[in-house]
Amino acid sequence: MKKIELGITGEMISCMGLGTMYFGSKVDGQTSFQILDYYSEQGGSFLDSANKYASWIPGFQGGESELLIGKWLKQKANRNSMFISSKVGFSYREIPRSLKKEIIISECEKSLNRLGIETIDLYFAHAFDTETPIEETMNAFYQLKKEGKIRYAGASNFFAWQLSEANNAANLIGWDGFTCIQQRHTYLEPNLRANFGTQLLLTPEIQDFCNRKKLSLMAYSPLLGGAYVNNDRSIPVQYQSAVTEFRMEKLKEVADDLMVSRNAIVLAWMLQSSPPVIPLVTGSAVAQVEENLQALTIKLSDKHLELLNQDIIQPNKYSK
Ligand SMILES: NC(=O)c1ccc[n+]([C@@H]2O[C@H](COP(=O)([O-])OP(=O)(O)OC[C@H]3O[C@@H](n4cnc5c(N)ncnc54)[C@H](OP(=O)(O)O)[C@@H]3O)[C@@H](O)[C@H]2O)c1
Repeated sequence: MKKIELGITGEMISCMGLGTMYFGSKVDGQTSFQILDYYSEQGGSFLDSANKYASWIPGFQGGESELLIGKWLKQKANRNSMFISSKVGFSYREIPRSLKKEIIISECEKSLNRLGIETIDLYFAHAFDTETPIEETMNAFYQLKKEGKIRYAGASNFFAWQLSEANNAANLIGWDGFTCIQQRHTYLEPNLRANFGTQLLLTPEIQDFCNRKKLSLMAYSPLLGGAYVNNDRSIPVQYQSAVTEFRMEKLKEVADDLMVSRNAIVLAWMLQSSPPVIPLVTGSAVAQVEENLQALTIKLSDKHLELLNQDIIQPNKYSK
């Protein structure tokens, strides 16, 4: 699997990360191991997790994904060839939503223990905290880096101005800022005023900001929970607009032309965007991940990209 640079760190990471949110909870241990094996056999090394995965699933408390990854790394003895990310900042168990220094430091320790590793390669602030001074948050990440407990820091679910404030605050004092942003992003255009709860989108504004500052872009939920390929799953209401049908037609046209699944086209479109977006890919069975990783073998032509990127060519489509 191709590698691309994380920000301007010099660190090369897989162009597609593996999302492990439901590993060890909704996706059982055996299947999770099979998916991890398959992804690493395809040359993938970037595993995305978080302290709270997957506390919202009945019967689970959070920490299951990290524990599962820890077991897999131990069994395969491959920690040194993998790039592990985790996150702090959302509530789970008795932990409140917060980016206070004491919470970042203590949650990092817990994540390290669950993962069974000494250093988290990429540690994310999972969501901006309006209650905590940003200097306090950035100081916590700086301290963790100085102590060797993390290697890089990333932001997730931030607005562009929040990311800018965070990195300015860090850089002014001589600390490292965030190297990347992880936001919700897919091929279909979201309604920017739709309610996504705590999830924030990879908007054109934040994309432009990151491009200028050379921060990497990562996309979560790129496959809309399987709605591109499962006819029994409807497109989430936040993505339904006058252009949805048109974009779905273009997606089908390109997928049919290349004889691959629509999921693979969505992911290939991200990989080929400029600069590239790193999708966090997942599935609940190896076959799904196999289908999605077809994206790695696809070369979208200029004509395909033109088709996928032309939002609308017949203005009367809007007036349906
Ligand atoms: N930073 C954040 O706030 C945040 C938020 C959400 C997620 N994430 C990260 O992003 C990763 C992906 O998120 P997500 O689960 O929401 O991703 P997604 O791409 O929107 O959905 C993945 C789901 O789509 C279905 N699917 C995938 N491939 C398929 C295929 N080939 N055929 C049929 N169905 C298929 C599966 O659903 P079934 O399980 O029903 O089969 C799979 O679990 C997570 O694991 C996590 O690492 C981060």
